[in-house]
Amino acid sequence: MKEIVPPLPPFVHNQFETVRELFQRHVVPSYGRFDLAFSHGNGSYLFDVRGKRFLDLGGGIAVCALGHAHPEITQALVDQSRRLVHISNLYYHEPQGRLAQRIVSHLGAGKVFFSNSGGEANEGLFKLARKFGHDEGRFEILTAQNSFHGRTLAGIAATGQDKVKQGFEPMVAGFRHVPFNDLEAVRNALSPATVAILIEGIQGEGGITPATPDYLLGLRKLCDEHRLLLLMDGVQCGYFRSGRFQSFQRLLEGIPDASGFLPDGISMAKSLGAGFPIGAFWVREPYADLLGPGSHATTYGGTPLACAVALKVFEIVERDRLADNARQLGAWIQDQLLNLARAYPHVIRSVRGVGFMIGFELVAKEQIPAFVNQPQPASLQFVHRLHEAGLLTIPAGLQVIRLLPALNLARAQAEEGVAIVAQEIQRLAEGG
Ligand SMILES: Cc1ncc(COP(=O)(O)O)c(C=O)c1O
Repeated sequence: MKEIVPPLPPFVHNQFETVRELFQRHVVPSYGRFDLAFSHGNGSYLFDVRGKRFLDLGGGIAVCALGHAHPEITQALVDQSRRLVHISNLYYHEPQGRLAQRIVSHLGAGKVFFSNSGGEANEGLFKLARKFGHDEGRFEILTAQNSFHGRTLAGIAATGQDKVKQGFEPMVAGFRHVPFNDLEAVRNALSPATVAILIEGIQGEGGITPATPDYLLGLRKLCDEHRLLLLMDGVQCGYFRSGRFQSFQRLLEGIPDASGFLPDGISMAKSLGAGFPIGAFWVREPYADLLGPGSHATTYGGTPLACAVALKVFEIVERDRLADNARQLGAWIQDQLLNLARAYPHVIRSVRGVGFMIGFELVAKEQIPAFVNQPQPASLQFVHRLHEAGLLTIPAGLQVIRLLPALNLARAQAEEGVAIVAQEIQRLAEGG
């Protein structure tokens, strides 16, 4: 299903160069960007300034829950911006209260703090943990190897990947990393200073690795025994992507004794605003008032505009049963990828994921003749090939390609995406 792109008129090509030059001159070069500049989108399609159409299965890294330019979101933005955009958190307003109520209704008794991003939501959880343990001198948070928790100073200290820390030492104190899905490792790592454990329900940046039910239940028990907070980072894996509001709800489905499971705090962002910046953390009831007046704040957190949009996103996701779509269509995509992995085991090593959080892992670069002599990792080289074929995906680490599509992805679009992946895998298998 390769798209046939007509030759590009020179003035359109120049538009890309113009945009890139603006970035090169004026934007801090902290990102490794692809040579793509987009001008507009529609549903799960994006259009670049050269006029080429791409199927977007990356969803802005798990953000664009309703695709691009959803008319009801546009309308919600317009309506709310005519009434009230910002008032500060010195005052009350209805959208923030209603959005907090909506989040609580999906989790359990507790309260919500609103931030602007996932990193900032995690910062709030770190402060919650510090406050909880403060009077006993406990402050240490255990996190998982290969985790990702954001790029703030504490976020990189919490993240279990060296590459995000390098050059920014000394790290914020009080974080240690243990192997993921290894309960014994957590038990052995506990110290008198430990106050909390933080994990992702499904590791995203680390390459799509779901927590096992035993691990989740074991962590809850361990935290209860040692009076630790169990914190979960739902920034990427949350918001219905797994087929349930939070990934642990999906991962624990059908597991005996799991019905009462709840963490003590959950961070959220990304799909919560479907592209409009908003983050949040939920705190379970007994700890919900730990951060009292004056202890934590952010100017833009939970503005009327952000909350009105997030309320509209909730309404659409629930009305259109998009969690079910993520669950069913995600399972179908995974099945197709598994078939590919069976057909081409010398190209695809494994397929992992839940719902619309899917990763397929290529074999090592050295085993792929077309990739072996190129400097870039296999994941990046494959993502480039998919771009050529009109498909956007997200690399994770050296070998994993992630699919994090809009929750309202249609079956025909899923078929289109799978066909492109299959075509490119087959090409690689044939040495092309
Ligand atoms: C699991 C997880 N936590 C935290 C973050 C940081 O979120 P943000 O970039 O909104 O600060 C991310 C971003 O990718 C993430 O995937």
